[in-house]
Formats: sequence, C-alpha cells, structure tokens
Amino acid sequence: MENENLYKAIWKRRSVRKYLDKHIEKDKIDALRRSISGLNEISGLTMEFIEDSDSFRSVKTFMFKNVRSVIAVKGKTNDPDLCEKCGYYGEQIVLEATAMGLGTCWVYSLSFNRKSASLNVKNDETIICGIPIGYGAEEMAEPTAVPDAPHRKTRSVSEFLGGNTDVPEWVTAAMKAVQFAPTARNSQKTRFSYDGGTLTAEISPGTLNMVDLGITKSHFELAAGGKFPLGTPSKFVKEK
Ligand SMILES: Cc1cc2nc3c(=O)[nH]c(=O)nc-3n(C[C@H](O)[C@H](O)[C@H](O)COP(=O)(O)O)c2cc1C
Repeated sequence: MENENLYKAIWKRRSVRKYLDKHIEKDKIDALRRSISGLNEISGLTMEFIEDSDSFRSVKTFMFKNVRSVIAVKGKTNDPDLCEKCGYYGEQIVLEATAMGLGTCWVYSLSFNRKSASLNVKNDETIICGIPIGYGAEEMAEPTAVPDAPHRKTRSVSEFLGGNTDVPEWVTAAMKAVQFAPTARNSQKTRFSYDGGTLTAEISPGTLNMVDLGITKSHFELAAGGKFPLGTPSKFVKEK
C-alpha cells in the first residue's frame, strides 16, 4: 500500500478489542498476505496472517471478543533486532488494515495463547505479539483532517522532545504522528532530541520497549519522510 494511505491511517487507528462475528473478505485477506510476504522478504521476519486462530478463543478474557483472525508477529529467535523489526513492520500491516476499514490491537499479554499451534511458530522462531484483526463492533471514525489529539491520554510534543520546542515545523508535525502511535500500556517511552539539525530517537532497551520503538519510528518516518537506522539511540536521515 502507498505510504500516503498508511500515513492517513495514523489518524484513524485505535485499538479494537471487540469484533463483529463477520469474516474478512477474500480480496482483503489476499492483499494483506501479499503485503506481509513483501515485508517478510525485506526484514527477514516470518509474520503470518492466520484466518482462523484459536489463540484468543482458548483464553478466558473479558478484554477481547469474537477474535477469529490474528496476525502472528514473529521472526527468527537469533535475529538481534527481532523486537524492533516486529514493531516497525507489524505497524505497517496495522495501518494497512486500518485503511481497509479493519480493526486491530497489538497484544503481548496473557490475553492470547502464544503457544497455540494455529500460530505456526517454528522451532527456530519466537512470536513477539499477536494482533487480532477483523471488523470492530464499533466503527472507527474517518477523520477529514489531522485531529488535535488522540482519543486517549498522550504525552505532549514538548515532553517527547525533552522540553525543547525550538524545532523545525517538520519535527513538530512528525511528533504528532508519534503521539498517535500505539505503545504497550500507552507508556510512550521513546524520547527524541533535536540538536544541531540532527533528530535522534532513544529508548531503554527491553522486549516491549523495542517493539514500541519500532512502531514509533514507523509513525515518525511516515510523517517526516526519511529513515531511522535500527537500534537505540538512532539518528534520523531525512529524505531530501
Ligand atoms: C507492544 C504492545 C503490546 C500491547 N499489549 C496489549 C495487551 O496485551 N492487551 C491490550 O488490551 N492492549 C495491548 N496493547 C494496546 C495498548 O494498550 C494501546 O495501544 C495503548 O493503550 C494506546 O491506545 P490506542 O492503541 O487505542 O491508541 C499493546 C500495545 C503495544 C504497542
């Protein structure tokens, strides 16, 4: 999917935990599978779209309802950048699904059974997160313009930037996309600094933090145009 459509989906996406008992159309599943396979090729990940997974059904939880299809966000256990890549590339699928009108939610916790055979995790692979995907019980609104703030609490742009608000307009605009990024428990731990024309993103390493960092970098890049190298700290390379 075009980056422009992924960018637009940033403002529409929110975590969806309750789904309708409605199957996803074949053409949408085919398109998602094509994107997943392309992203796996670039990244070395082994993400999969599982049309009918019992990984949420088999766990007693009030949090999630009617989960049928799941994206298994996984890759090779010996990949040193596994968690960050899962966040970065998984979020591209989340945004593509959002653009198609589908709901998603990143899940790490015991709300899903990561050992379910349906997730097809091979001996040399580790599953980092499961992402339920389907039609949400409540429809996501289609914003006509960039909203002022997300639907839930967020840190301010100044907080993300360590109090420095003397930054170019493109940085402020990209920080807005960061405010809308999903993070585990809405913790929003990535910090940015802008110094001498260089924008750096940083987080303290750890499984969930690195997933969050990957997701957050993908939002920043879609808004600013450019690329972060893998890792932390990481200096942003802006497209000319
Ligand atoms: C890595 C990661 C793990 C998450 N794990 C869970 C989870 O186990 N259960 C859950 O209900 N939500 C989970 N979430 C969703 C967050 O709670 C949610 O993204 C955050 O509260 C922000 O809300 P929003 O996604 O609606 O913008 C997770 C999000 C991320 C990025």
